Amino acid sequence: MPESPLVLGIESSCDEMAAAVLRGDREILSNVVHSQTVVHAPYGGVVPELASRDHVRVVSEVVEAALAEAGLAGRDLDGVAMTAGPGLVGSLLVGLSFGKAFAYAQGLPFVGVHHLVGHLVAAEVGGGGAGDEAGNLAPPYVGLVVSGGHTALYRVSTQGRPAVLGETRDDAAGEAFDKVAKLLGLAFPGGPAISKLAEQGDPRAVDFPRPMSKRPGLDFSYSGLKTAVSVELARRGGLEALADGECADLAASFEAAVVDSLVGRCRRAMKQEDANRIAVVGGVAANARLRREMRAAGENDGFQAIFPPMNLCTDNAVMIAAAGSRLLSRGVRDDLSLEAFSRVPLGATPWRDQGAPDSQTPSDSGS
Ligand code: KG4
Ligand code: ZN
Repeated sequence: MPESPLVLGIESSCDEMAAAVLRGDREILSNVVHSQTVVHAPYGGVVPELASRDHVRVVSEVVEAALAEAGLAGRDLDGVAMTAGPGLVGSLLVGLSFGKAFAYAQGLPFVGVHHLVGHLVAAEVGGGGAGDEAGNLAPPYVGLVVSGGHTALYRVSTQGRPAVLGETRDDAAGEAFDKVAKLLGLAFPGGPAISKLAEQGDPRAVDFPRPMSKRPGLDFSYSGLKTAVSVELARRGGLEALADGECADLAASFEAAVVDSLVGRCRRAMKQEDANRIAVVGGVAANARLRREMRAAGENDGFQAIFPPMNLCTDNAVMIAAAGSRLLSRGVRDDLSLEAFSRVPLGATPWRDQGAPDSQTPSDSGS
C-alpha cells in the first residue's frame, strides 16, 4: 500500500447508495450520494425491498460517478472498502457484492467496514465540508453515535476496539425523530423535517420528560418521550385540531428534550472518562440545536465537541473509504467469502477471522 492510498468506498447499508474516493487519511477526491427519499416518502419510512431494488438499479452509475469526479479509472486505485454491516441485509449485499466484483476485476485488495466505525471515523476526516471542521481528530476521544439505528457512547482508544460506555435501551434518537415526525404528519425523513419546523416553535412550550436524566449511568431511552408526544397530541384533540404554531411548538419542545438528554449524558460521560474531546457523529449530528448545545456545554465544562461536516454526518461513503484506508494501510484484507451482517456489535468483526491485525482504533472493529 502506498503511503497515501487511493481508496474507493461503497456504502449501501440503508436507503442511500454512496461511493467516494479518498486519498490518504482525509483528502476527499469525490463524494457521491444517491438518496432514495422519493422512493420511500409515500410509505413514511424505509421499505427494505424497495431500497435494495433501487440500489441494484444505481450502484454502477454511482461508483462510475465517484471515479469520474475523482478523475480516476478503476486501475488507478489501491483498494476498495465496503460497508459489511450493520444494516439491511438486502441493501448491504448490493454494495458489498459490487465492491467484491469490482475489486476482483481490478485485482485490488478490499476490506469490509463496520458502519458505525465509519461514522466515528467521519469525525477524524473532518475538513472538506462547510462549517464545522473536525481538524485532525485522533484517538483517544469519546464518541457519541447518534443515528437512525443507533444511539451509543464509546470510548475510542489508540489501542483496541471502541468500548461501549452506554447505549439506548429502546429507540435510537433518530428513530424517535422519525416516529414523532410521523405523529405530527411531517414528511419523511423526519429528523430534518422536525428541526426545520422547530425553528418556528417555542422549545419551552411543553415540558417533555428528559429521558433517563434522574438515572445513574450513561444509557439512553427515547420510546417514552415519543409516547409523551403522542399523549400530548391526543390531549390537544389530535393532529387535525392543532394550529400551525402548536405543531411547531410540539416539534421544538420534543427536539429540545432529545437534545437536552443527549447533552446531559455526554457531559456525564466526559466527567466520568476525564476526557476533553467528544466526536458527535451519525445523522442526528446534523441537527443544528444539538450542535449548538453540545458546543455550549463543552465551553462550559471544558471539553471540545467535534462534529463532522454536515454531509459526513448522514450516511456517506467517504467515512467508509476512510475507515477502509486505515485498515488496508495496516495490512488488513478480506476475501471473497466476506458476507453482509444485519446486526453486529461495535467491537466485533464477524466477517474477519479472529487474530487478524485489527485491534487498533475504531477503524477496524464492527458494531
Ligand atoms: O446516519 P444516518 O444517515 O443513517 C443511519 O445509519 O441510521 O441517520 C439517519 C437518521 C434519521 O433518523 C434522520 O431522521 C436523522 O438521522 N437526521 C436528523 C437530522 N438529519 C438526519 N435528526 C435530527 N435533525 C436533523 N437535522
Ligand atoms: Zn448511518
